[in-house]
Amino acid sequence: MNPANTAAWKNLAKLAAQDVSSLAELTKQPTLDILELSGCQFDFGKQRLNQEILTGLIELSEECEVFAHRDKMLNGEAINNSEDRAVLHTALRQGANVVSPDIANAVQDVQRRMATIAEAVRNGTWLGYTNKPITDVVHIGIGGSHLGPELVVRALADDGKRSSNLKIHFAANIDGHDLFAILPQLNPEKTLFIIASKSFTTLETQVNAQSARSWFLERTCSPDGIAKHFVAITTNIGEAESFGLAEENLLPMWDWVGGRYSLWSAVGLPIMIAIGVSGFEELLAGARSADRHFAETQAQTNIPLLSALLATWNYNFLGAGSLAVLTYDERLALLPDYLQQLEMESNGKSVTRDGDAVGIHTMPILWGGTGTRGQHAYHQLLHQGTRAFTADFILVASDDLDQAEHHNWLAANALAQSQAMAIGYDAPANQPYRQVPGNRPTSTILIDELGPRQLGALLAVYEHKVFCQGVVWNINSFDQWGVELGKMLAEPIYETLSGQQDHKQDLATQRLIETIQYKTP
Ligand code: F6P
Repeated sequence: MNPANTAAWKNLAKLAAQDVSSLAELTKQPTLDILELSGCQFDFGKQRLNQEILTGLIELSEECEVFAHRDKMLNGEAINNSEDRAVLHTALRQGANVVSPDIANAVQDVQRRMATIAEAVRNGTWLGYTNKPITDVVHIGIGGSHLGPELVVRALADDGKRSSNLKIHFAANIDGHDLFAILPQLNPEKTLFIIASKSFTTLETQVNAQSARSWFLERTCSPDGIAKHFVAITTNIGEAESFGLAEENLLPMWDWVGGRYSLWSAVGLPIMIAIGVSGFEELLAGARSADRHFAETQAQTNIPLLSALLATWNYNFLGAGSLAVLTYDERLALLPDYLQQLEMESNGKSVTRDGDAVGIHTMPILWGGTGTRGQHAYHQLLHQGTRAFTADFILVASDDLDQAEHHNWLAANALAQSQAMAIGYDAPANQPYRQVPGNRPTSTILIDELGPRQLGALLAVYEHKVFCQGVVWNINSFDQWGVELGKMLAEPIYETLSGQQDHKQDLATQRLIETIQYKTP
């Protein structure tokens, strides 16, 4: 069903056409109260929303049966229809869903094995092939097997309460400047490599893992040492075994966990190593609280649902062509990267679940960066550019560094930016270049203090928001067929570039291949 054919969509289109609401007025009396979940406050007070629009949006969610679809997901139905898979990342945090005892046992078993590895690495009892404790962990993986773990490790690992002295590195890109910038810093006797790949066939991860293995063997001449220096996380246990990994160092994942929803699985091993077992448990507990909230809260105060409906209002009715994620906290610098995959790989789709043209716009571009850096770069466009957008401001209330001047200025800037975007500035007639139109809708997420519980809840709210949007747009948020073509096309180009076989290409590509060949010494 095309959502544009629903009565609710048509009603919202009418409301949008009549919309004369100004944020200068709406911010005087926000329609929604600030909503709290596990130490995160979600404030939609700077959205172009009145009671009538809110009612219309909730009617849209009812007509699109968002809650019925939610229940199907939580109950393990194969809602990823193009791959015939269930979508049960919520089972990894033992959420509100009713999962089979088999799944619950399998999850717990893997979590216990993760804990054994993580604790041994953290307390120095995991010994390398020369009996030295581990000092460096290198996580090799890409996309969903990388972005979540690096985000969480960067966000939480410096927290003195949980951190260890271990250095955790991440290598994702096929570009050698990624892995080969890390390797010279390492002592192979004290390094543990984690290879995370759901499929264990992803080019980047395979090439990086093989290079890491060769680097290790060249320096140690110890094939048996592989067992003490490499662990892997995958659904493809057979492939991982042929890489030479010891069975006890292989942690399984399951086809019912999508890659970009997998940081809660064994893919999160570097997180557990960085913040400890209890820290990881808190992260899961935060996500679990979001699962419960999503499963049990009525529409009017359901945070992921409201986030999704407001996003739909902004993108489909008010013409917002991008979502800026503006994190006013350096520790969350990787949040936009993580959300790019979560939102754009999930909902950047053009066909419906039934394979028809979708007929409306789906996910716009998501981008972002940290404040206040961005204020001196791209905020000019946000204030005076011609394209509509929406933004999520994310900031942390507590001053954990006890640096009040820094912290209060940071928070003041975040609030001032969203205020300027909402209210704008009416310039004198002879200074039109100073005019700031305002009326740019934004949300603010205020985190009490940045800990695993809060971060777990925040990320799970975004996951469920993505889910609700996918249902409203009638698309499958859990496949990613679009990325396959580029992978296929790279193979013959690689063969040509590396002189294995000449493949004919279109002229525009061919001349670039020849230029690269000519420039390569
Ligand atoms: O190419 C896209 C993708 O399939 C993502 O969806 C996934 O997170 C990433 O590649 C890595 O896949 P894998 O974990 O199988 O190596």
